[in-house]
Order: sequence, then C-alpha cells, then structure tokens
Amino acid sequence: MENRTDSVATLPQAPLPPRAEKAVPALSGGWPLIGHLRDFQKDPISLLSRGWRERGELFQFRLGPRDFFLFTGPEAHDFFFRAPEDQLNAKAVYQFTVPIFGRGVAYDVATEIMDEQLMFLFPALRKAALEKFARIMFKEAREFAEALGENGEIDLPHAMNELTVKIASRCLIGEEVREQVDTGFADAYHDLQKGINTLGFFLPRLPTKAHRTRDRARERVAELFSRIMTARRDSGARPDDFMQTLIQARYKDGRALSDDEITGILLTVLFAGQHTSAVLATWIGLELTRAPSYLARVREEARDVYGEAGSMSLESLKEQVTMEHAVRECERLHPPLIMLIRKILKPMRYKDFVVPAGAMAMVSPAVSHRLPHLFADPDQFFPDRFAEPACEDKQHSYALIGFGGGKHRCMGKHFAYMQLKAIWTVLLDRFDFERINGFPAPNYGSWVTGPKEPCRFRYRRRPGSSVFR
Ligand code: HEM
Repeated sequence: MENRTDSVATLPQAPLPPRAEKAVPALSGGWPLIGHLRDFQKDPISLLSRGWRERGELFQFRLGPRDFFLFTGPEAHDFFFRAPEDQLNAKAVYQFTVPIFGRGVAYDVATEIMDEQLMFLFPALRKAALEKFARIMFKEAREFAEALGENGEIDLPHAMNELTVKIASRCLIGEEVREQVDTGFADAYHDLQKGINTLGFFLPRLPTKAHRTRDRARERVAELFSRIMTARRDSGARPDDFMQTLIQARYKDGRALSDDEITGILLTVLFAGQHTSAVLATWIGLELTRAPSYLARVREEARDVYGEAGSMSLESLKEQVTMEHAVRECERLHPPLIMLIRKILKPMRYKDFVVPAGAMAMVSPAVSHRLPHLFADPDQFFPDRFAEPACEDKQHSYALIGFGGGKHRCMGKHFAYMQLKAIWTVLLDRFDFERINGFPAPNYGSWVTGPKEPCRFRYRRRPGSSVFR
C-alpha cells in the first residue's frame, strides 16, 4: 500500500515568475447574480462539458456569488492533484461532514492530523486483511442471493445499499456492528446520511429537523461503538478489524485515540466507502444487463476461474480481468463522485493563466471520463478499451480519476473493486436479471450520483448449478 505522504503529496511550488498572464476564459451564458446556477442545477455535467468544448482545459463559471474553475484533462488533473494543501484546500470544502464524522477527526482537524488518522488504517487494508475481506464479501453476497429466493423483483439501488452496508459494517468497522445492522445501526446510519443535503453543505449547523435527526443519530452510533469498544477492552478480545486497529493505534506523541475519535474515523471511512460502492454496484448491474454478449464473457470467465472453487479469494478476484474491465468501464461512465472540489487559498498559475485565491477549483470525473481524444466513442459501454492493445486508461496517469488522485486519493479503491466484482460474480452466477424500467438518467440531486429511480429489476434463478462447488 502506498504511503499517503509520498511522491505527489506536497511538491513545493515556486513563486510565480514574471510572465505573460492571461485571465482564465469564462463560460458563456450565465445570469446576473445567479451566474450559471440554473443550468448547473438542471444538469451540471452538460453545463461543464459545454464549458470544456467551448473553452478547453481550464475555464471559469459562476454559481451565485462564487467563482469556480474547472480543470479538465490529464495535464490539468495532474496540476490540480499535485497542488499543496495550503493552495488547494479540501478541508474548507468538506466542513459539512464535521457534524457527521464528529469533532477532532478528519476535516475538523489540521491536515497533518487527518493524515495521521487515515494512516492508522493502512495496516487494516494489507494483503492478509484483503484476503479475509474477500471471504466476507463472498459470504455476504451468497447469503443475500439466497434470501432472494427463486424469482421476484428488486429495487436495485436499495438492494445494493443493503448489501454494501452489511459488507462495509463487517469489514470496515467490526463484526459486532454487522450483528446490529438490522437492530438499529442501519437506521442510525440512514439518519446520518440524511444529514448530507444541500442546506447542510452551506450551513451544516443550522438547527433544522434533518440536522437534529442527524445529531441524534451520531449520538446513537457513538454509544453503540463505545459499548463495543468497552466490551472488547473488558474481555481482552482483539479481532483483526478496523476498529481494533484504531484501538491499538497511537499518535506520534504516544497518545491513544479516544472512543469518539475512533467513532469519527470509522464513520469517515464508512461514509467514504459505502454509498459510493452501492451506487457503482447499481450502475454495473444496469450496464452489464444491457450488454448481453459482454455479460456472457463475464460468466464464462467466472466458470473458468471458479469451476472447482468453493469460495472466492483475493487471487481469484484478481483473475477476473473481464469483470474488472466492466467495473472500470462503469467507473468511467458513471463515477459516483462527479466533482472533486477545493478552495483556492493562494493564487496559482496554470500555464499562462492565473487563477485567483478565494474561488473554488474543481475537476470533474464525469466530464473528463468522456473526453473523445482519450476514450474512443466515449459514451459507449466498451470495457475492452481497457484490454490490450488499446489500454486507454494507461495512456495518461490521470485519464481515469473516479477515485481521485494525489494526496487525497481514495484509500479504498482495491477494496471497492474487490467488493464490486464479488457482488456481481455471485448475483450473475445465481440469477438472470431483466430491467423493468427504461435505462435511468443520473440523479444529480444527490452528493453521490446514482441512477434516477425507479430502477427495478425482475430476477429469475438460472437453471443449472452454480459455478461454485
Ligand atoms: C466505488 C467506491 C468508491 C469511490 C468511487 C471512491 C471515490 C473516492 C474519491 C473520488 C476520493 C477523493 C475525494 C477528493 O479528492 O475530494 C476518495 C477519497 C477517499 N476514499 Fe474513496 N471511494 C470509494 C470507496 C472507498 C472505500 C471502500 C473506502 C474505505 C475503505 C474509501 C475511503 C476513502 C477515504 C478515507 C478518502 C479520503 C482520502 C483523503 O481525503 O485523504 N473509499 N474516494
């Protein structure tokens, strides 16, 4: 596992040399006072894609009183992700998470402390842990499939949410939390999720009903986690999981983490990793079921890999390259996080352009992943673009940015890929799926971009035996 503070993290930036300076081109359109807000609310990705077509790799637009600068394409992404934190700052943007994750963790503390807190978790994502996670993912997906019976209808986003909460609570928190998913934890987590709303983004402490529900849910989760930690300390149990890793961790000054800090870090990881996974899992189901010939190849590969196997392993999941390319293609076409935003704390120069302090900088995976000079026929689901000889994702290190990049890049990408492959290998082995509604458009009204609902599927158990022994 790479070190968070390595290579790309904080390259010093030279002071701006005296050179020709150009103002960043502005996106056409926009209204007095509101700027481009109306079009942005309707369909942010159409608006930003138009900006790229019109103005190229860097342009400016306005949402209400706030100026934004969109960086598009591998070179511009590289610049964005390499910028030091005191220039492009994530903490200022993610303040809305503080009431959810809690005080003293993540975006409530200095960046160096957040780095230290996330670094604690890397041992919990080592190879041996991933081995164990592969078995858990397989078991949870099998139980989930079993409970579906022979045939029926499911709401796919809801189903994927349920399954990924179970997997995440077991792998990313601890076994005891998984046991309480159906008896309180899922409800509290759901109430916390509702705290992520547009109002909360701008005014996270405003005393609204949703925010009061969110705060009570945070207390319920803290009580639950604290009870589990106390029980572990009393019994001397030391299960090999994220919670235990944090219980045993020490800050550089030797201090142990408080229960509330541990709760906050676990919630940070859960929020970063669960909903995003559920949404991408939904898109994968949608895309694979409308590409029957690719789906047949995914199933054939599963027969080759698992024909004689009783379970899944890290190794077997790695062998599923055809499935991996389908997951990557869904990451490209439907990145759950469509915009990554930073506050500009110091003016910066990109090529001849000067980007002023005080505004917001962003990259958009959803825009960049459909650049026609990087991805042939970019709107098509074509997973073979990642296979030899095209290998379209290998041409530039920042062509695909669905998991971010640089210092804040996602620490759970391998975990997410494993989980997505495990879920769909099991479900496609067991069932045939048929979409009931038309192919859904993205729902941009949510922080994590899933498909618009309804998104219902009919399923029917496949004749013949499973590829698993
Ligand atoms: C499909 C699933 C996932 C997607 C699409 C995803 C995407 C991302 C992206 C785009 C970022 C960068 C955010 C930014 O630059 O502002 C990020 C950061 C992060 N991800 Fe993920 N992620 C996923 C799953 C996970 C999982 C499973 C975990 C935990 C094991 C996780 C933990 C994190 C954490 C802790 C960060 C913050 C890193 C930092 O700010 O330093 N993610 N993720």
